[in-house]
Amino acid sequence: MIQNILRNIPTPCPWRDTVYWYDTVDSTNTKAKELAKAGALHGTVVIAGNQTAGRGRMGRSFSSLEGKGVYLSVILRPGCTADRLMHLTCAAGVAAMKAVEAVCGVCPDIKWANDLVLGGKKLGGILTELGFAGNIVDYAIIGIGINCCQQEEDFPEELKDIATSMWLQTGRRIDPASLAAALTEQLFFTDWSLLSGKKQLMDTYRQHCITLGKEIVVVQNDIKYTATAIDVDQDGGLLVRLADGAEKIVNFGEVSIRGLCGYV
Ligand code: BTN
Repeated sequence: MIQNILRNIPTPCPWRDTVYWYDTVDSTNTKAKELAKAGALHGTVVIAGNQTAGRGRMGRSFSSLEGKGVYLSVILRPGCTADRLMHLTCAAGVAAMKAVEAVCGVCPDIKWANDLVLGGKKLGGILTELGFAGNIVDYAIIGIGINCCQQEEDFPEELKDIATSMWLQTGRRIDPASLAAALTEQLFFTDWSLLSGKKQLMDTYRQHCITLGKEIVVVQNDIKYTATAIDVDQDGGLLVRLADGAEKIVNFGEVSIRGLCGYV
């Protein structure tokens, strides 16, 4: 597998020299965090064939069936304060979207903040985690999971209406190794323009963000309300208009889109 991945990463991408492959891990994000704490370099990529405890946002698990998806985390060492990295998850979403398009020719949408959506169902997700040295970000871990070769019966019952795969949506069985390679390459490009090309990254994000213009339900802790999604700001915050016309920025929480299959 590792040879297949490396073969597909173009030689000029220096991250190909720091790719770690594991047949099975608990979570590539957890493994990447261990490596980061032990001094792993910027651009270290952790990929696994299987995760026994794949993690999603808000303490959820991420279904990670062996050989069916891509489970990849990259370590960045941006050496800046966290306020300059607020758009990191959005930038990773753009990279993941481009990688999917590169390998199967179909461009997924992005559902705010970090879900890849194809055919109205969730194709993948992103979990970003930071570690600090004082007020400087010592490491940022971007973890991406994308469903590649699952058929409906591969998803647990509770995900059958919500989740999809590249195979289900395109009829093409994409080799996870080529998607992992494309993700590595796109994340490398994105990292390159992360701080200097923020405007363009966020413009691309907005163009593909399926949430904008939609009626949504926002769930933040125990609070739930309806709103219209209007815009995404430069830091990845979602600007929404409430029923009384007031506007506010949503920075965290779950957003469901009214009418989108499986999301309401
Ligand atoms: C979400 O949808 O809430 C985010 C899912 C992120 C899953 C990926 S799979 C690779 C990396 N390792 C993890 O444990 N999680 C991320």
